[in-house]
Amino acid sequence: MDLMEYQAKTVFAKHGVGTTVGEVVHTPEEARAAAEKLGGGTVVVKAQVLTGGRGKAGGVKLAANPDEAEERAREILGLDIKGHIVKTLNIVPAAAIAEEYYFSFLIDRANRNYLCIASAAGGMEIEEVAHTNPDAVAKISIDPATGVDEAKAREIATAAGYPADIIDAVAPEIVKLYGVFLAEDATLVEVNPLVKLKDGRVEALDGKVSLDENADFRHPEHAAFADSSAADPLEAAAKAKGLNYVKLDGSVGIIGNGAGLVMSTLDVVAYAGEEFGGVKPANFLDIGGGASAEVMANGLEIIISDAQVKSVFVNVFGGITACDAVANGIVQAFELLAARGEAVSKPLVVRLDGNNAEEGRRILDEAGLAGLERVDTMDGAAKRAAELAAK
Ligand SMILES: Nc1ncnc2c1ncn2[C@@H]1O[C@H](COP(=O)(O)OP(=O)(O)OP(=O)(O)O)[C@@H](O)[C@H]1O
Ligand SMILES: [Mg+2]
Repeated sequence: MDLMEYQAKTVFAKHGVGTTVGEVVHTPEEARAAAEKLGGGTVVVKAQVLTGGRGKAGGVKLAANPDEAEERAREILGLDIKGHIVKTLNIVPAAAIAEEYYFSFLIDRANRNYLCIASAAGGMEIEEVAHTNPDAVAKISIDPATGVDEAKAREIATAAGYPADIIDAVAPEIVKLYGVFLAEDATLVEVNPLVKLKDGRVEALDGKVSLDENADFRHPEHAAFADSSAADPLEAAAKAKGLNYVKLDGSVGIIGNGAGLVMSTLDVVAYAGEEFGGVKPANFLDIGGGASAEVMANGLEIIISDAQVKSVFVNVFGGITACDAVANGIVQAFELLAARGEAVSKPLVVRLDGNNAEEGRRILDEAGLAGLERVDTMDGAAKRAAELAAK
């Protein structure tokens, strides 16, 4: 789960990192009130969206007084930043910035380690710097067994090229940011810009934090960060039902058992779809190994409620859960959905293979479900589903 800037700064503050959370508002009038509450001086109005490059897109603006804060808020609210519509603003006092730096902790999957990336060349051009002058960006591996103490923090700050006069101030902040990374089970803690203020203090002016959802059970408090308004409504519904669902933008609904099988189903459908004018998969949905009729029904319900879906491809390879159980699940899912008033009205192509495939196919044939076609090869079924979606 990715946190918005104000949420990330809230987490920073909890761990004692120097930052200013400011006010969170949703209307121009609230922005004015926030600016007044902050003393009536110059503030920065910042779009809160889960994407980078807000400043460059016009989503971060200075306002000299509450009147201007209201005006800037009116301009930024509703702005489309890389497909994210701005609904929330963070109002913070303008900081007296002397210099901007880049800092992050992340998981280095390739090396099965933690990594710190830091640079004295921070601010909005850091991606550019990484391209044109990679030597200006330090990469320091962190041994999880020893972590980051004051000495390691100084080593990082020096490698990053932070000026000598801020090392004393920045080292404790780095130690605390590592505390955020560890204690919150984050996969990314990024501060850009980390700034030196004119009075010599060091502050995190921006924050990007990604939390590892696998550790949610350790952090009941993280649930409050979930921004249901930002998530796709179908994804939210699927999540509420415990389904592994990702919405895509095509028209062939996909259900499969096993993440690997579903991933390859997406490829096969996209490939088959080329013949029918570029038909594409509408989603990723893995109903897992032991899919019950209810799970199948929940999955079908989510998929057919997607208005973009024109056909559904159920791709099952029987393993521990044999095909006859899955076939029975499909038959019961049709009944369950009819009973819920959500009768399946879109064409369904089912491919059953693997353990007990023969029996599974017999069950489906005997049930004679309306709109259901059985195709026994993955390529053939993908092609048929794409063809039905193109009609
Ligand atoms: N409180 C502040 N006071 C003064 N200037 C600020 C403040 N917050 C941000 N800025 C300026 O605005 C720039 C952009 O802000 P910020 O880093 O928050 O957004 P961004 O980098 O464009 O967004 P993202 O990090 O999502 O790409 C900063 O580099 C800094 O120069
Ligand atoms: Mg930034």
